[in-house]
Amino acid sequence: MAKFLSKNLKHIAVLTSGGDAPGMNAALRAVTRTSIFHGLKITAILHGYSGLIDQNFQPLNLSSVANTLQRGGTIIKTGRSKEFYKAKGRKQAAENFRAAGFDALVAIGGDGTFTGAHCLWNEHKIPCVGVPGTIDNDVYGTDKTIGFDTAVNTALDAIDKIRDTAASHDRLFIVEVMGRNSGHIASEVGLAAGAEEVFTPENQVSIKDVCQVIQRGINRGKGSSILVCAEGSEPGRAYHIAKQIKKEGGFDAKICILGHIQRGGSPTAADRNLASRLGAASIRFLRAGICDVMAGEHNNKTVTVSLKDTFTKEKTPHRDWIALAKILSI
Ligand code: F6P
Repeated sequence: MAKFLSKNLKHIAVLTSGGDAPGMNAALRAVTRTSIFHGLKITAILHGYSGLIDQNFQPLNLSSVANTLQRGGTIIKTGRSKEFYKAKGRKQAAENFRAAGFDALVAIGGDGTFTGAHCLWNEHKIPCVGVPGTIDNDVYGTDKTIGFDTAVNTALDAIDKIRDTAASHDRLFIVEVMGRNSGHIASEVGLAAGAEEVFTPENQVSIKDVCQVIQRGINRGKGSSILVCAEGSEPGRAYHIAKQIKKEGGFDAKICILGHIQRGGSPTAADRNLASRLGAASIRFLRAGICDVMAGEHNNKTVTVSLKDTFTKEKTPHRDWIALAKILSI
């Protein structure tokens, strides 16, 4: 956490960056309306950090965020800026930030977004507060990220549908979910969907064991099984697992990669409310002169988490949930 002189705080900039997540608009709405409520000016930086380098700005008013609470995606666009990774790009961004008359930044996104915001404070003393918005839930310091609940429910809905056809044909399915290097979506949806096994980057699964589980199910009259796998660093991992299962146990598996469908859709009530609380909290922190932090939630309480901790410390998924899913799908 760092402190800055907030008595001159007049104009806040806000951006969304990285993968979009359902609830980002709800967070934007909360940031915008809380700022205006307190007499602050608020401007959106479009397309994430690229928009800061390209001076792509849009002033916001109360109506700009009307009718957006229920909308997926992000109305102020997002991006993954390669230029901003470099010190030169960040210097340009900082110069543009000051030239536009912005006093502080609210950055809505995941660990990459927060790495950028932390650099802006460290290198250019631009006060930043992060709001965690990513379907991956892989941000340290907050129990949930905005968009995670919606993505899990979208994946669950899809798996429930796959189960109908899997049961009708007596088939084995491997469903691949997003999450990049983390297995939060996989472990949460695995338990909820009654998966026989959950593959995550954090959880090493023996193919021999999986084949035994499938065979045991068949022996007791089970017609179909569903395995959930997190994409890991290489999307398409489900194909690799299917090959190994065929080789080890001779089982044929159908593959379903859920992909970007998990990023879209109307946010759940849980995501909208989390976004509203954390968006409002980000302005509260800035008004109190607190920066270089993320507004997070732990045990239903709003907390400040050092921005550096959010991307250097690890948040591991519930390993015991995966074990429970296995026991309950016996
Ligand atoms: O970080 C969110 C996420 O959806 C990950 O789960 C996924 O690996 C990645 O973004 C995909 O990114 P892109 O849409 O840029 O291919």
